[in-house]
Amino acid sequence: MRGRQRHRGSWHDHEHMTTNIHDSAPPVIARTDFASDFVWGCSTSSYQIEGGAQQGGRVASIWDRFCERPGAIRDGSSGARACDHYHRWPEDLDIGRDLGLNAYRFSVAWPRIFSGKGSRPNPEGLAFYSRLVDGMLERGLQPWLTLYHWDLPQYLQEQGGWNARDTAHAFAEFAHVMSAHLGDRVKHWITHNEPWCTAIHGHFEGIHAPGIRDFRTALQVSHHVLLSHGLALPAIRANVADAQAGIALSLHPLSPASARPEDVAACVRHDGLRNRWFLDPLHGRGYPADILERCAADAPVVLAGDLEAIAAPTDFLGLNYYFPELIAHAPGAAPLEARVVAREDVARTAFGWEVSPEGLGTLVRRIEADYDPAPIYITENGSTWDDVVGADGEIDDRERRDYLIRHLDAVRDTIARGSRVKGYFAWSLLDNFEWAEGYTRRFGLTHVDFETQQRRLKGSGKWYRAFLKQER
Ligand code: FCB
Repeated sequence: MRGRQRHRGSWHDHEHMTTNIHDSAPPVIARTDFASDFVWGCSTSSYQIEGGAQQGGRVASIWDRFCERPGAIRDGSSGARACDHYHRWPEDLDIGRDLGLNAYRFSVAWPRIFSGKGSRPNPEGLAFYSRLVDGMLERGLQPWLTLYHWDLPQYLQEQGGWNARDTAHAFAEFAHVMSAHLGDRVKHWITHNEPWCTAIHGHFEGIHAPGIRDFRTALQVSHHVLLSHGLALPAIRANVADAQAGIALSLHPLSPASARPEDVAACVRHDGLRNRWFLDPLHGRGYPADILERCAADAPVVLAGDLEAIAAPTDFLGLNYYFPELIAHAPGAAPLEARVVAREDVARTAFGWEVSPEGLGTLVRRIEADYDPAPIYITENGSTWDDVVGADGEIDDRERRDYLIRHLDAVRDTIARGSRVKGYFAWSLLDNFEWAEGYTRRFGLTHVDFETQQRRLKGSGKWYRAFLKQER
């Protein structure tokens, strides 16, 4: 199947080929192939599932505003209702328990907690997350809390958003309040989800909120986001006995489109912004010199002490893995003269993302070889397909099931080769609001009918459930 489509993860539209993921049978894997303390989860995020946008004292987020822009969201929708998880969370946590998960990753909507500069924390917002966390613990789900999964309060955007240094301090205060409130029960803390997306999708490409298109701003934003991570860590550690704290990065294995030196150099540059720009400062190396040099005019303002704060030790690295990229030299293309080209004859999801389980292993081993990081948890991995609800109500999503199996097999394989991967969170528990794609892309192990809010476990979810029920 060939098709033209806009999709994030690529900086341009292109023709691509989709091959059948069923060209060969998936491997056979068992839960017993993994350590008994391996963490098995699903991930979600607040704006994508909660809805209840006007309830419980929640104020607007940058996504509420962005969704009002004509053309910003493919189907003109928003997360105002989403999965109505704000009201249906007990049912959703039941799904997680019935799957046999032992962990659940979710995020906190900052606009439910603070309503304006200097405001007191909103008791209703705190109570909502407190009930949610209690609900997880009652169901045997270890809470993994992400503080920032892209829904910045709009009032902070009006004061400069992530381009303003003050926002990093506001985030540290938010981290303090949440960890003081929930730290007796939540031990696993993720400061940010995918700072690359916040910076580049949100402030350079403008395809995510707040929809800004300026490279200099994007780099400054990336620095303030990383700084805010560094400022939040001490607050979390002060409030949470035995805290396990880290950050979740979207990282990609890259290869040059050819052996030509120009393509090889372009691939190094692309890696510099995609991967090293975040991994280097988090591991005490500051920003990569090659990128700073090339982007000197757009380099972020970094104050004394910032890099030390960013490099504070973490307990784990969250890795969100979706796809590899093939990189070619692109003369004149800002900012790095590098572009993503489509690899031919590979399987692709309905999003156009290349399916490459082996890329996951390659990436993990590269990160471990280059950075010797804290243990890795796969904090997101999943795929979107054009699901069909059968006449019998079943969703036979064998592509998603096989994607899951193949990626778990890649995790098993890299652990066998010595990698320290300690857990896996499937994206996602539920179909949800997929950002600029609205409701047109389904990533759930559970199907959601957005009219009736009915949930139905898909074939992939049934497979995960059967897999997780195998005891050691
Ligand atoms: C990741 C995001 C997550 C979801 C998946 C498909 O980049 O963190 O919210 O959109 O992609």
